[in-house]
Amino acid sequence: MKLYIDSADFEELSNLKNSPFVDGVTTNPLLIAKGMKKSEVGDGEYFEYLQKIRKLSPGELFIQLASSERDSAVYEIAKIRELIRWPVVIKVPATPDGFYAIAKLSKEGIASAATAVFSPGQACLGLAAGAKYIIPYYSRIEQMEQGKGLDVINEIMRITSPDRLLVASIKTEQDFCILLKEGVKNFTVPYSLFCEMGKNSNTEMAVANFAENLKVNWSRRRK
Ligand code: E4P
Repeated sequence: MKLYIDSADFEELSNLKNSPFVDGVTTNPLLIAKGMKKSEVGDGEYFEYLQKIRKLSPGELFIQLASSERDSAVYEIAKIRELIRWPVVIKVPATPDGFYAIAKLSKEGIASAATAVFSPGQACLGLAAGAKYIIPYYSRIEQMEQGKGLDVINEIMRITSPDRLLVASIKTEQDFCILLKEGVKNFTVPYSLFCEMGKNSNTEMAVANFAENLKVNWSRRRK
C-alpha cells in the first residue's frame, strides 16, 4: 500500500517528519492558494512556495500544473524541473489538452498523473497518453453520481494496474476502508483524516493504563 498526504500547508507537512511510512505528498492549486492565503500570485513566489513544500515533503511530490495554456505550461514544467528536487510527479487534469500534455511529458521521460478523473474513459486516455498514475476523485464522484463512486472506481480498476491507480478525494475513514477492501493500493488523504485515523481514545486510555501499571527505572538513556 502507498499512502500520500493531500496538503500544501507548511505546518501539516512539517509534522510528516514523524511519519516515515508516508510515501509522498499531493498538492493542487486549491490547496496551494489556501496555503499561500491568496488566489493570485507571481510566478517567483509560486516557485518559492513549491520549493518550501519540497523541503518539507517526504517521497514523491505531486505538483499540479497551475497553467491552463500550453506556452505557460511548458515554462512551468521547465521551471519545476530546474528548481524542485525530484522525485516529482506532474499532475495534469484529465482534459483533451491535459492528455496532450501527459503524452509530451511521457515522451520526455517525465512522470505525470492524470488527475480529476471522473470516468473510465478519462482513465483510458490517461493510460494511453502514458500517465504514471490515474487519480480518480472518489467522494466527488460519489456525490455527483449519487452513490456510484465505488462502481466507477471498480470500472477504472479493471483497466488500470493497481500500481498506477491513486485514489483521491477520500473524506472519511469509512471511505478509506471501503476502497481498501475493493483492492485499491494507493491513497491520498487530507492531513486531518490521516491524524483522525491514527487516534482512538480507547487506545489512549489503554496506553495510560499500561504506563500506570509498570514504571521501569532505566539505567541508561539513548542520547
Ligand atoms: C488529489 O490529488 C486532490 O488534490 C484532492 O484529493 C481533490 O479532492 P477533494 O478536493 O475533493 O479533496
